[in-house]
Amino acid sequence: MPTPEPSRILATQQDGVLLLGLNHPPLNTLDHALRQQLYEALQAAAQDASVQAIVLHGAGGNFSAGADIREFGQPRQPPWAGDVAQLIEASAKPVVAALQGVALGGGLELALAAHARIGAADARLGLPEVKLGLLPGGGGTQRLPRLIGAAAALPLMLEGRDVDGNAAQALGLLDEVCDKAALLDAAVRRARAMLDGARPSRPGTDGEAGKQAGLAAIAAQRERLAAKPHALPAQRLLLDCIQAALEQPLEAGLQFERQAFLQCVASPEHRGLAHAFFAEKLAGKSPAGQARPRPVQKVGVVGGGTMGAGIAVAMLDAGLDVVLIERDAASLQAGQDRIGGVYQRQQDKGKLSAEARARRLARLSAATDYAALADADLIVEAVFEDMDVKSQVYAELDRVCRPGAILATNTSYLDINELARRISRPQDVIGLHFFSPANVMKLLEIVVPEQVSDDVVATSFALARRLGKVPVRAGVCDGFIGNRILYVYREAANYMMEDGASPYQIDQALERFGYAMGPFRTADLTGGDIGWATRKRKAATRPPEARYVRVADRLCERGWFGQKTGRGYYRYPERGQRGQHDPEVLALIDEERAARGIEARAFSDEDIVRRYMAALVNEASKVLEDGIALRPADIDTALVNGYGFPRWRGGPMKYADDVGLPAIVADLESYAKEDAAFWAPSALLRRLAREGAAFGKLNQPQ
Ligand code: 3HC
Ligand code: NAI
Repeated sequence: MPTPEPSRILATQQDGVLLLGLNHPPLNTLDHALRQQLYEALQAAAQDASVQAIVLHGAGGNFSAGADIREFGQPRQPPWAGDVAQLIEASAKPVVAALQGVALGGGLELALAAHARIGAADARLGLPEVKLGLLPGGGGTQRLPRLIGAAAALPLMLEGRDVDGNAAQALGLLDEVCDKAALLDAAVRRARAMLDGARPSRPGTDGEAGKQAGLAAIAAQRERLAAKPHALPAQRLLLDCIQAALEQPLEAGLQFERQAFLQCVASPEHRGLAHAFFAEKLAGKSPAGQARPRPVQKVGVVGGGTMGAGIAVAMLDAGLDVVLIERDAASLQAGQDRIGGVYQRQQDKGKLSAEARARRLARLSAATDYAALADADLIVEAVFEDMDVKSQVYAELDRVCRPGAILATNTSYLDINELARRISRPQDVIGLHFFSPANVMKLLEIVVPEQVSDDVVATSFALARRLGKVPVRAGVCDGFIGNRILYVYREAANYMMEDGASPYQIDQALERFGYAMGPFRTADLTGGDIGWATRKRKAATRPPEARYVRVADRLCERGWFGQKTGRGYYRYPERGQRGQHDPEVLALIDEERAARGIEARAFSDEDIVRRYMAALVNEASKVLEDGIALRPADIDTALVNGYGFPRWRGGPMKYADDVGLPAIVADLESYAKEDAAFWAPSALLRRLAREGAAFGKLNQPQ
């Protein structure tokens, strides 16, 4: 016989107060069973004469992470979170919510309906629905503005930001903050104190001044969203809901919210964002099974250039001790200045206090002597992208580091298997591929060479979590997951440019698709010189039959590296400007076409997107075939977090599934008539299309 599921609600009584503990570990998500049982427990409490008041809390460290997102794809059954909230609010017996751990989304909405709220100082309170393309649908859009004022409630909901207990109290979201250990006792005390009728009453409106401030904030945000090409429907609807909270009675506002919420649930944007959420969870699981991570507290960073400095900041921000190593005193000073500069800018913008900056910098030390790495637990090498230079650094690390220290490299393209083979401890070598700026960008590719030991892989995943990064496991090849795929779809863009589309049209088409920046604008931002140097290095090994577009080289020959030189594909007469079209660039492209005997042809914006995406999906499919990525979800996660792919589309593999794989194969086959070597569909893509399958299927455990 199957064991019955444990009850989702744990009920105990203390002093006439009924404690209802949400019990659905680890996060007490509000699935149907929990909602149903809580609803019934509240109804029973209303009838039970021995119950005078109710405390709602989360058993097991968290209050609740909100609705169970998996249920949104299925027909949902009442009671809704909003029904439970209404029952709480209508209770004749006082209800106090005791919040610890996370109290998010529908979880916080239950608490908002309670008659008082107490929270632990380190609790995380918020309404993050917008990040999933939703809006609070359990009464939050109506009750939060009534509780703390619309002007304060609006940014919390629109950004989906969470706040800790103290900040929540300052906002008026919590009535009391207390120590976690004392939370339940304090909640019981407060519930009893409310028996005398001392219940905070809801003002029902925001007051006239508050209402005007709220309406002004809504109008300002409406204008901001109107200027954004890809504002989510949820964001616009959220503003409508907050306006309803200001202008309508609670009951009507709740009805309005319900309809808006259902619209969001049905939107493709919600499906894309929910896909991205679960893809990240999947990608974030260490493939090293049960292997235990090694402890890490002291980190060495070798090379204090663009990447090394950013990596050092990411480590310091996470509370780790960092020792920076450079090749000479001047470079060391430059590296330290880069790190100091990052913190100075954060302080200038008011994002970091002087004390916090000092605390972080106190954990940084610097040396030119590798002996300073003798007791480091993990070293990240970020020196020049050159095998000989890196090999020399690794020989030094092999000599000075303690046994068991992890030797990570931030290389973008080099063969990490080869690097590992050259030292006496290949089992400790791994790739940690950060993205620029390393303290900001979320993606961390964890590149797993042949001989690495499982606990090094497990440590890397644990470290990523500590750094707040989104890890993705990648195999060793030229460019790993992201850069390998990037190379191919960038080539597709170059081909289209040479065949007749202007870089400006290509950028615009892809920006309309959802990229914040098209490929040529991005090239101007990152600087053409780095790619130029790589192309020159690889020129000798380039297959002679492969098509090679020379436009980028011709720009670089003129010293047009992009924003930093004032010219690239665009002109930048003033620093920080968005860039203007450049007739000289168009003339240069015409010259290249003429030299190759290419007749310019017209591309529609749709053609551009289809070619770009077909190239992307095809290479991604080869990356899967080769085992460089384990699952389509890993590719979605990498491209969304490191390459600007629009998150609300879920990722390129999700996009391919939405379009349908047969359509992508048909496109590839038609383009292959022009250039078979570049466009031939991958075997995996062809097989899935033939079977009527989708990439999504490969995300499930086989
Ligand atoms: N629904 C379903 N599953 C959820 C979930 C949710 N709301 N939140 C987390 N999970 C799952 C994760 O997928 C993961 O599952 P797995 O172990 O099978 O991979 C497991 O719970 C643990 O999650 P994390 O690894 O993310 O745990 P962390 O401790 O790192 O983070 C968290 C916890 C900050 C709560 C994070 O999980 C999170 O941000 N969750 C989403 C919260 C959210 O968006 N809530 C709003 C939901 S929508 C809503 O409430 C609508 C309402 O208005 C009606
Ligand atoms: P960079 O040129 O800005 O910095 C390299 C630093 O290494 C310099 O400060 C140099 O003095 C130092 N260095 C060189 N030899 C050294 C040695 N023997 N010992 C100690 N320090 C030494 O280069 P960047 O851009 O920071 O790149 C570093 C690595 O990160 C490369 O492998 C690159 O491929 C990779 N990478 C770069 C990205 C980027 O966007 N710039 C993104 C991801 C990875």
